[in-house]
Amino acid sequence: MTSPSSAPGDRARAVITGLGSCLPPLVVTNTQVIARGSLDTTDAWITGRTGIHRRRLAGPAISTGDLATAAARAAIDSVGPAVPRPDLLLLATTTPDRPCPATAPEVAHRLGLGTVPAFDLAAVCSGFLYGLVTASALLRSGTCRAPLVVAAEKYSTIVDPFDRDTAPLFGDAAAAVALRLGDADEPGAVLETDWGSDGGGSDLITVAAGGSRLPATGIDTGIGAPGHGDRCFRMRGRQVYAHAVRRMTASSEAVLATTGWRPEEVRAFIGHQANQRILDAVADRLGVPPRHRLGNIRDVGNTAGASVPLALADAAARHACAPGARTLLTAFGGGLTWASATLLWPDAPVRTAAPEPRPPLHDRQEVSPP
Ligand code: UT7
Repeated sequence: MTSPSSAPGDRARAVITGLGSCLPPLVVTNTQVIARGSLDTTDAWITGRTGIHRRRLAGPAISTGDLATAAARAAIDSVGPAVPRPDLLLLATTTPDRPCPATAPEVAHRLGLGTVPAFDLAAVCSGFLYGLVTASALLRSGTCRAPLVVAAEKYSTIVDPFDRDTAPLFGDAAAAVALRLGDADEPGAVLETDWGSDGGGSDLITVAAGGSRLPATGIDTGIGAPGHGDRCFRMRGRQVYAHAVRRMTASSEAVLATTGWRPEEVRAFIGHQANQRILDAVADRLGVPPRHRLGNIRDVGNTAGASVPLALADAAARHACAPGARTLLTAFGGGLTWASATLLWPDAPVRTAAPEPRPPLHDRQEVSPP
């Protein structure tokens, strides 16, 4: 569904003012993933079928919130003091620190953002773009002035290391963008968006346990206890592949049409970094030439909701495009969900940061009553 187009003369758009990213330091190669799970696969199969050579994993001491805090702080610091401090924090994640409460308020607290509204958004691998659509709408309605959209994932906590269908695919990471209201002609302007879902495919990508249908542990709810497999991420890869190509292509076509761009005019195409073959299939169908396809799947794998902003931050740090270049972002994920956005390549600083472990309880500032 393409978002309602603006009234004639309404040129106000969300503009990206800063970018931040955070990758955990531990690099794990395909050979190491195979050895950890005694997987019946090969480095050649993984690289040939997915384009993934390595990924970063967070380890037990680092949480999604730690990755998110570091990426968000990097985005805020990249912007500098001239731009208003974030007045809303939206965290896209499938792997929150805890089922309850949301991770976003604690991230906002750790960033020193005071009592700003902060909430998690669950749209799996489409999470960042769902967040961008939401933040753009809130900005344009005047609900906030400087939203921060963060996407952070620690899939290593839900991926089964013994499952060859998923273990080689995923990595941990976070990335963030700072936004303000600006004009549709400015570098960084988010021009048009498209988003959608199809719950008929909700069983294709799942973590079965940990919700109201099947609780995570042994509380006697009468529903039954989950097995190990129920607590892990499962994906019917071949079916998901077909949906991903179809939905990202259609969503991209929709948002390009609303923007008034032809595919061959796109100078930067960044799709959800799930599989290089999926990305190439979408770009081929659209007609975006290989030289305009950007991504980092080779080095980070599939970082779920964080993958699109991570690839954007990575390419921006390398100055891969000129500010203002016509850019198309698209993503697809569990739900099923998908979303796309057109924007002008940002002229925004980029920072990368190491994960910020949460201070121990006794060092943490108490929240005093108002
Ligand atoms: O992030 C959310 C969205 N996620 C995605 O978009 C991911 C979508 N899916 C995929 O990326 C791919 O489907 C996978 C990477 C998961 C699998 O690649 P594929 O090319 O679709 O393989 P396939 O499932 O069609 O299997 C092809 C063959 C099968 O053998 P047969 O039946 O042809 O003899 C599989 O059993 O490859 C076999 N196979 C493997 N062989 C070695 C499947 N997984 C593996 C493996 N190593 N890891």
